[in-house]
Amino acid sequence: MKILVVGSGGREHAIIKKIKENKNVEKIYALPGNAGMADDAELVDIKASELDKIVSFAVEKAVDYAVVAPDNPLVDGCVDKLEAAGVPCFGPRANAAIIEGSKVFSKDLMKKYGIPTAAYEVFNDAAKALEYVKTCPIPTVVKADGLALGKGVVIAETRKMAEDAIVSIMEDKKFGASGNQIVIEEFLEGPEVSVLSFTDGKVVVPMVSSMDHKRALDGDKGLNTGGMGTIAPNPYYTQEIADRCMKEIFLPTIEAMNKEGRTFKGCLYFGLMICKDGPKVIEYNCRFGDPETQVVLPLLKSDLLTIMQATTNGTLAETPVEWYDGSACCVVVASEGYPGSYEKGKELVIEDEVKDKVYVAGAAFKDGKLVTNGGRVLGCTAIAEDLPSAIKAAYKVVEKVHFSNAYCRKDIGAKALKAL
Ligand code: AMP
Ligand code: GLY
Repeated sequence: MKILVVGSGGREHAIIKKIKENKNVEKIYALPGNAGMADDAELVDIKASELDKIVSFAVEKAVDYAVVAPDNPLVDGCVDKLEAAGVPCFGPRANAAIIEGSKVFSKDLMKKYGIPTAAYEVFNDAAKALEYVKTCPIPTVVKADGLALGKGVVIAETRKMAEDAIVSIMEDKKFGASGNQIVIEEFLEGPEVSVLSFTDGKVVVPMVSSMDHKRALDGDKGLNTGGMGTIAPNPYYTQEIADRCMKEIFLPTIEAMNKEGRTFKGCLYFGLMICKDGPKVIEYNCRFGDPETQVVLPLLKSDLLTIMQATTNGTLAETPVEWYDGSACCVVVASEGYPGSYEKGKELVIEDEVKDKVYVAGAAFKDGKLVTNGGRVLGCTAIAEDLPSAIKAAYKVVEKVHFSNAYCRKDIGAKALKAL
């Protein structure tokens, strides 16, 4: 079988490595992928935003199955286009990807179907939003409606911060049209849990839970990033919480999307907060998380491609989805300065003995050598029988990847260890 994977980061590398385990897979194309994946896939110089080129390529190469991993192409209808050209896909169509593409849509969906989430107001007028934050409880949370590279959320600790966020999102258009509308919502407190799930629109099969570390520096200090590391499973996600989530959140969301005529197939990601009065949805993503995927997929015992195809064919209920016991930890190694400005083009060496434990997110070839080409350069992942051993083993892998100006958080998993 020939498989095509749209996207270029560590998440895509983890997906590709897992799909490769299937003996029937003879070829994987990465569009565009990155140089760090060249041993695992054929890199094709087509960007994830070039939907028509993706479709032409898939048809020309007679690709058997496509995986669309990033949010933007999903929201822009990449799956719809590939399907129309006869290519079966993993991922939601645009009318379902809106669950991530519009925060107003997802908040209204949750309100309509009684799915627990933070209380909120929607504004399409900056003056009205500014009037509202004069009296709303503080801290408050201001969110741009549309996709904003994960940066459209401001936790406003003061009224001034909330006002500044409204002005920069709605008036200065910091995130373009994504800020035509905003959501202002109640600030929630509690541990966060990421639960990715497979769904064919009929049943929902949660994957192992995980915990992201979004801030750049140790102790959850510094700026928000795309994610500096992850662990799985998340100790805050107890069986009792999992049962509640299934009943109060996961199944109701799948049913709500069906009732709206927006059947969701693919990976639905529930960003949850475990509040005193129960689990609540912080956000939905219409795709695998990055770097959550890098700890979740290594723990998957069953064949990933078979499960993906079952979500497309509506046969997920009959398909085994089994997990290894044990834990995983992924430590992201970034370029000094990230998420601000940083230097690229540094020689990147990944020692042979850890190649199977490294997911490369940002690398390129220069004069035949691997060099860094991104803020988040790679993720070092290890699995072990328990979380402390997985953390230790992941940091051992970090010692075997080398580039100048490398930095990583030293405390990935520390919060989870405290909860154990
Ligand atoms: P997002 O980009 O939607 O993942 O949001 C980024 C982060 O902001 C989340 O991971 C949470 O830590 C935080 N956040 C979002 N919404 C809320 C909320 N209502 N209350 C508290 N924290 C929030
Ligand atoms: N790690 C969070 C995300 O993928 O959105």
